[in-house]
Amino acid sequence: MATRHAFFATAAKGLEPLLAAELRALGVEEATVRRAGVSFTGSLELAYRACLWSRVANRILLPLASFRAETAEELYAGVHAVAWAEHLSPRGTLAVDAATSQSRLTHSHYVALKAKDAIVDQLRDRAGVRPSVDVERPDVRVNVYVHRDHAVVSIDLAGDSLHRRTYRQRGGAAPLKENLAAAILLLAEWPQRARAGEPLLDPMCGSGTLPIEAALIAADIAPGLHRPGFGFVAWRGHQEAVWRRVLSEAKERARPRRLPVIRGHDIDPGAVRRARANVERAGLGGRVHIEARALANCELPVQRAGLVVVNPPYGERLGDVAQLAPLYAEIGDVLRRRFTGWTGYVFTGAPALAKHIGLRPARRFILFNGAIECRLLQFPISADQVRDTAGPRWRRRRREETGDRIQETEFRSQNPAASPGGRRRAGRSRIPVSEDGVRARRLQSPSWRGGEDSDS
Ligand SMILES: C[S@@+](CC[C@H](N)C(=O)[O-])C[C@H]1O[C@@H](n2cnc3c(N)ncnc32)[C@H](O)[C@@H]1O
Repeated sequence: MATRHAFFATAAKGLEPLLAAELRALGVEEATVRRAGVSFTGSLELAYRACLWSRVANRILLPLASFRAETAEELYAGVHAVAWAEHLSPRGTLAVDAATSQSRLTHSHYVALKAKDAIVDQLRDRAGVRPSVDVERPDVRVNVYVHRDHAVVSIDLAGDSLHRRTYRQRGGAAPLKENLAAAILLLAEWPQRARAGEPLLDPMCGSGTLPIEAALIAADIAPGLHRPGFGFVAWRGHQEAVWRRVLSEAKERARPRRLPVIRGHDIDPGAVRRARANVERAGLGGRVHIEARALANCELPVQRAGLVVVNPPYGERLGDVAQLAPLYAEIGDVLRRRFTGWTGYVFTGAPALAKHIGLRPARRFILFNGAIECRLLQFPISADQVRDTAGPRWRRRRREETGDRIQETEFRSQNPAASPGGRRRAGRSRIPVSEDGVRARRLQSPSWRGGEDSDS
């Protein structure tokens, strides 16, 4: 029977339960939701499977030691006590990532340095040679996490954050991390919808992350299939035969098949060019259609109802938040008028802007895009909403309660900012947006584990 190990999979805050469900679907029997990740036990094969198949995780860690570390000396001693020759050749290369929170050791760089010294000193004292540091492509990446003066030292089996699927070129406006895009699709029940043949449309696709992740899911392509490597390949505990088996099984599963209609639109021709290049790099040419098209001209790609998923700009990095209210009103308008029977999902970091959509969300999820608290809102588009051209009743009620006399037409107009009245009304949104919008929601201390900060 294969040796069982304890592992820790890291994830963005808010995605832990989704990651636990994903790990269970991969065969993990005991998965426990923790802060910023999921702990699980299983064979090395399961960990390899998680590295290759998890669409949500950031890293898969193999904890080696855990001890109290109030001081640099305690940290050094704890790291020094690990039998490093079992993990790393003295002639090999290593990197140490470190993070600290709520601890006396406050400087993660200093923690990384101390831990590296302990590893290097031990191997040199025993073997007479010392490993060198390679922060980019080390043989072994060590992860040190100190929380409340307690250190956990792990091997980073992923080696690099798993969100880097390698299909995406640099550049582009505020792209979603690939694993956040996949999480949005999983929460929107895209795997079940894709199996049922439903179409998917992202009318503001930017670099194409959502359509590409949707196609990878629909085609059962492992998200890590095209990665150049993983952190376990040069690790001394690596079992090549087991890895080969896991990898070839994934290659078998990724056989081309008919996919449902998956489309991305964007108003920016540069974004469209990038998205098309990314589709090609992901090996999905001909399976994902990307088109230059403004939201206002958005058309049904097929007769059959499906999923519209959209990640509009929300003012943190793109444009001025106050100017975006009409765009959100337009999203609501397009959903209501052209997508009856579909389910809309809007992912935004500005809940105040989401109110301009003018539809009542049936469900909402709180997710984090880096340190920004975001909402994923579900809007089932029923025929009632289409008939109710005066906008949803809840909005009228709320206005009556607050005495807000903004005209209902603000939420129906295609582009309120295009008219002088519209610009005035759109301008009113500046106050709520800046008061309880993105900036006010920045986390004081991001909850993360294992150096994920640098991945954002
Ligand atoms: C936050 S970005 C989307 C990022 C995307 N999810 C990704 O991962 O790359 C928002 C996108 O909306 C596009 N956009 C803005 N206004 C638009 C409109 N009226 N019609 C269509 N696209 C629009 C922008 O060009 C931008 O690419």
